[in-house]
Amino acid sequence: MSEVREKKPTIHEMLGAEKLRDVVETFYTNVQADPLLSPIFPEDIQPVVEKQYMFLTQFFGGPSLYSDAYGHPMMRARHMPFPVTPQRAEAWLSCMRHALQELEVNEELTQLILQRLSAPAYHFVNSEDE
Ligand code: HEM
Repeated sequence: MSEVREKKPTIHEMLGAEKLRDVVETFYTNVQADPLLSPIFPEDIQPVVEKQYMFLTQFFGGPSLYSDAYGHPMMRARHMPFPVTPQRAEAWLSCMRHALQELEVNEELTQLILQRLSAPAYHFVNSEDE
C-alpha cells in the first residue's frame, strides 16, 4: 500500500497569485461603488489594495507577505477605528462575491472563499447598524 498522500491544495494554489490580484482589485472597485462602504475607505485605495493582496495571500495559505511586512495581523484591532456594522459586513462579503463572479472564478471555489471570509467579516463587527 502506498504511503504517499496528496496534500489538499490551498485556496492560494487553486486561485493562483495573479487571479488573486485581479480579485482584490475588482473587489475594491466594488467597495468604492458601494454606498455603505465607500465613505469609510480612503479615496486613494491603492495602499489598501496592496495590503489586502498581501493579507489574503497568507490567509489563503500562500507565503506570509503581510506578517513579514507589518507583523502580527491583529485584524479585528486594526478595524477598530472604523464603524464595522452587520450591514457593512454583508456589503463587504457581497462585494467579494460579485468580484469572484465577475472574474468567473468557478462556483465551488467561490463558495469556499466566501465561507472562509464570512467568519472574520462577522468577527470584525464592532458597531450597531446605523
Ligand atoms: C466586515 C466588513 C469589513 C469592513 C467594513 C472593512 C473595512 C476596512 C477599512 C475601513 C479598512 C481601512 C482602510 C484604510 O487604511 O483607511 C480596512 C483595512 C483592512 N481590511 Fe477590512 N473590512 C472588513 C472586513 C475585512 C475582512 C473580512 C478582511 C480579511 C479577512 C479584511 C482585511 C483588511 C486588511 C488586510 C486591511 C488593511 C490593514 C492594514 O492597514 O494593514 N477586512 N478594512
